[in-house]
Amino acid sequence: MSSFIASINEKMAEAERDLASASDSASLEEIRIKYLGRNGFFSRAADDLKLVPKEEKPDAGRSFNTARKKFQELFDSALESLKGGSKSPSSGERPDLTLPGRKRKFGAKHPISRVIEDCAAIFRRLGFIVADGPEIETVFHNFDALNTPLHHPSRDPQDTFYLPDGRLLRTQTSPVQIRVMQKQSPPVRIVAPGRCFRRDTPDATHSLNFHQIEGLYVDAGVSMADLKSTLLFFARELVGPDADVRLRPHFFPFTEPSVEYDFSCIMCRGKGCRICKNSGWLEISGAGMVNPAVLANVGYDPEEYSGFAFGMGIERIAMIRYAINDIRILYENDLRFLEQF
Ligand code: DAH
Repeated sequence: MSSFIASINEKMAEAERDLASASDSASLEEIRIKYLGRNGFFSRAADDLKLVPKEEKPDAGRSFNTARKKFQELFDSALESLKGGSKSPSSGERPDLTLPGRKRKFGAKHPISRVIEDCAAIFRRLGFIVADGPEIETVFHNFDALNTPLHHPSRDPQDTFYLPDGRLLRTQTSPVQIRVMQKQSPPVRIVAPGRCFRRDTPDATHSLNFHQIEGLYVDAGVSMADLKSTLLFFARELVGPDADVRLRPHFFPFTEPSVEYDFSCIMCRGKGCRICKNSGWLEISGAGMVNPAVLANVGYDPEEYSGFAFGMGIERIAMIRYAINDIRILYENDLRFLEQF
């Protein structure tokens, strides 16, 4: 072995010892200068290499390069383990415990999910359980069994999405009433939140898909007073103890009598403001006493049982609650909006 290669090997052994004993970044810096500095070992060895006899040069050059590379690797890993704190830090560089921790990004529930969960939780306390139904429905469940006459405009293909096989995208959560009643006998006390579809032209208050939460209570002796007190309890739990509820006569084929119901305006508490268009009331949705024809359609005896039902728009509640003035923002996945929840 040439004396050049021997001296490189010797120095590398020394470098390994030096690096192993380095306990802080100051001593590591000294080592860096000793080996890699302008007058350091490798710089001088590079000069010596020029003087090596021609026939030894290839081997000598190779050893030089290998050693230089190996040194860099050893040096980097020594630096890395010092940074990682595997050696006890010297007094000057204790970790700074006052630095803020790493921030973890939390996701959040979508406002629609929040409203659905809050509504369901309120009804659960009254003994309602959550039921579910398919988004692709039969005409029977969505219309026929709900006593919807054949000429009713909601059946029109201009209002409802029909599939080639004759089924449809449900236009309301009311068909879940039918599915639940077909499966069990009274008493029935369910709420059914879910997605619905209508052939609307999208604008600030209309969307092709939206959400409702349906309620149904059937038993012996259920009355309109039960309906009103249930809606009042719900309103007070949702928006506050001074909320009021008002029922207005309306028509739905699946209820008789039918009503639309309003909550007293949560912004002005009934005094009249921009949100409630000075009426003091906010329209929420429809409800009524289950039509005896619907009970008969699922095989319940209307002489023995009565019930109430209601359905409300989740988006409508979310928009009132969070002061959202355009329904479309709920579906756009815009983080600037969603991160506020
Ligand atoms: N399904 C009705 C709608 O989408 C809302 C509704 C009204 C549901 C009255 C009911 C009800 O259960 O009794 O407009």
